[in-house]
Amino acid sequence: MAPLSRFALSLLPLVAAVNAATDPCATIGGKKWASPKDVRACLSSFKLDPAIKNNVLDVVSKTLAFHASVNYQIWAPEPYSLSVHEDLFKDIARINKTSYSSEYDFHIDLSRTFKRLNDGHCVWINYCFVTAFVNYLPIPLTLLTDKFGLQSVHIVPEAFDVAKAEFADGLDAWQDALPGDLKGRLDLLSGAKVLLINGLPPFAAVDANAAIAGSYQALGTRQIGFFSSYARAASSFSYSMGQFAQQSLPLDDSVSLLIQRVNQTKLEVITLPYRSRIGSSTKAFTDSASYRANNCRAVSGTNGVDIHDTTVAPSTADKFKQIPAPVAPAGKKHLMNVVLDTAPFTDITLPGGLQPTAPALNGSFGIGTFYLQKDGKTGVLALGSFSGANYDTMQSSLLQGLQSLKALGATQLIIDVTNNGGGYICVAHWLHRIIIGPKSTTVPEAGLDTKARSGPLAQQVVQKLIDEKLDPNQELLYNPLNWNNAQNVQFKADENWLVPPVKKIINGHPDAFSQRLGQECQPDGFTTTPPDVGFFEPSKIVIVSNGRCASSCSLFSITMAKEEGVRTVVVGGSNLVRQEYCGIVGGQSTDFATIDTEIKSTGLKSSPLAPPDLIVNGVQGITWRLGFGITRREEPEEWQEHYAAIQLPLTMELVNNPVKIWDAVTARVFK
Ligand SMILES: *[C@@H]1O[C@H](CO)[C@@H](O)[C@H](O)[C@H]1NC(C)=O
Ligand SMILES: *[C@@H]1O[C@H](CO)[C@@H](O)[C@H](O)[C@H]1NC(C)=O
Ligand SMILES: *[C@@H]1O[C@H](CO)[C@@H](O)[C@H](O)[C@H]1NC(C)=O
Repeated sequence: MAPLSRFALSLLPLVAAVNAATDPCATIGGKKWASPKDVRACLSSFKLDPAIKNNVLDVVSKTLAFHASVNYQIWAPEPYSLSVHEDLFKDIARINKTSYSSEYDFHIDLSRTFKRLNDGHCVWINYCFVTAFVNYLPIPLTLLTDKFGLQSVHIVPEAFDVAKAEFADGLDAWQDALPGDLKGRLDLLSGAKVLLINGLPPFAAVDANAAIAGSYQALGTRQIGFFSSYARAASSFSYSMGQFAQQSLPLDDSVSLLIQRVNQTKLEVITLPYRSRIGSSTKAFTDSASYRANNCRAVSGTNGVDIHDTTVAPSTADKFKQIPAPVAPAGKKHLMNVVLDTAPFTDITLPGGLQPTAPALNGSFGIGTFYLQKDGKTGVLALGSFSGANYDTMQSSLLQGLQSLKALGATQLIIDVTNNGGGYICVAHWLHRIIIGPKSTTVPEAGLDTKARSGPLAQQVVQKLIDEKLDPNQELLYNPLNWNNAQNVQFKADENWLVPPVKKIINGHPDAFSQRLGQECQPDGFTTTPPDVGFFEPSKIVIVSNGRCASSCSLFSITMAKEEGVRTVVVGGSNLVRQEYCGIVGGQSTDFATIDTEIKSTGLKSSPLAPPDLIVNGVQGITWRLGFGITRREEPEEWQEHYAAIQLPLTMELVNNPVKIWDAVTARVFK
């Protein structure tokens, strides 16, 4: 493409202008650990090239034509009107007119503009900056509730175990920073109560973070992201440091805390530096020029490909999905609904004492693991993702695991979806269908009807692939054969399902969508035959999480809660806020590169509506199909209520201890 070479050329003077003698990236080049200040000096040393600014704004604006939620997000209905009111196009116009002292500042403004949507599907990530270095503190926090219901922030009791295991080579800098008697005794901080953070009550810091964290609509859920938590991962439970102890940009240099240690009456002030560690995907560099060349340019997978061009292999931008998704088998595409998280996927494991020790039952497949609790009747499915294993194996294993639980005498089921960021849509439908059995809410559809945006370029994509028979193998999203109408009848190969568009005025803006779509999971998306009877009564099932259950996890939880009456529990969080059991529903998520593939494969790249190729190492996520509501059927489910039936407060005993949490849930829910 001509535009690519033009932009690439204009990068040269930028790199040359950096003087090697004072090269701020040379200071951190080759280092594993650095101070956030030095990392910031490197990242903010790149002047904003107007070609980059134009290119990024052009790509994001044109890609937003395919994001179904744009006009809804200008002002979301209750209960989200306070948290979702972002007019992206107004802000993009403002950013276009603003001058920035660096590309880093431009990145932060654009990324936070997207984050104000509080929609983890629609984000802008530039790998040149995000998680290039990750900013850490060795003291993850939690929010505990005492027996009188009073809440206070604490350093987690397992803090030192986590720090020792994860930061063995970087601990000294923190040990040495502690004052007086505490010097070298980071271990003494574990469990301490935190009375002030930087001189203010802790919730000032929690809410300041919630304001820029993005990802979830509900304030309570964004507050919870500040604190540490666990997730079921492929080989064990993993540990999430929380956004206080782990920042994906080098935002803060240090933190000062007023603490009261366990069993101590005196109050102490400690100041700890944040330390930046090179990100696991950051390519080695020695100076600014190599930093930019290795980390900031478009890479394979940044842009789409023409599926008819056999010389290029398609690649997906999996890096920021919450749990790495395996590549789907060739020739088979499984539809995804997954959150794009700017927190890097980490391999920090939950410390030994907190890992469940009961044997994993038959059917367990790593990221989905089955246990029977000591009471002999409570079965547990810990499910960290809807895409953590092979698609077919996931379905057969989920079935086998439920069968194992029943065979062992389980009469009730806890499904723990803490930090489950979604994945395969049809696996969410499958799990709902097999647990509940066949009934009107599970057959033919166990999920939500959806709609896609019907903009002029999307309509042309469909028409071109029909007219020129461009997609014989059904690889493209817009192929009519991939979808069913609201009566669950498959569209004909030559039926442009985006026309006539369904016109709507949303927040005063005219918009256009496809007709209502039915489901596409049954029968072909189910690769195992579902049994004729369900496994557990809805009253004997409970879904547990920290509220951070997104995308396909939301599709599953919402249909189970609203259609079957299954109870939901949110563990932790402020008791001043009504907690939601999930967020970011979407319907089907995708990204710029995938849309670019649709455009290139239908020969429409030269349309003035088509986004150009991206010249930076970026990803833009979007909601491609939006699910319709269960209660208010004509409105998106996205901005309807998802209040948890039960809020389970965390105590020193329970925090980050899955087995004890499951026991507490059992005692509370299955009396
Ligand atoms: C940004 O401003 C320039 C100059 O006015 C204009 O040509 C361009 O289309 C604008 N870009 C976007 C994405 O609005
Ligand atoms: C605090 O005191 C209790 C009761 O004496 C004791 O069991 C516990 O080990 C002490 N914890 C610490 C960290 O000193
Ligand atoms: C688990 O699998 C083993 C080996 O196939 C089998 O012997 C056992 O009965 C199974 N247990 C349950 C509870 O299904």
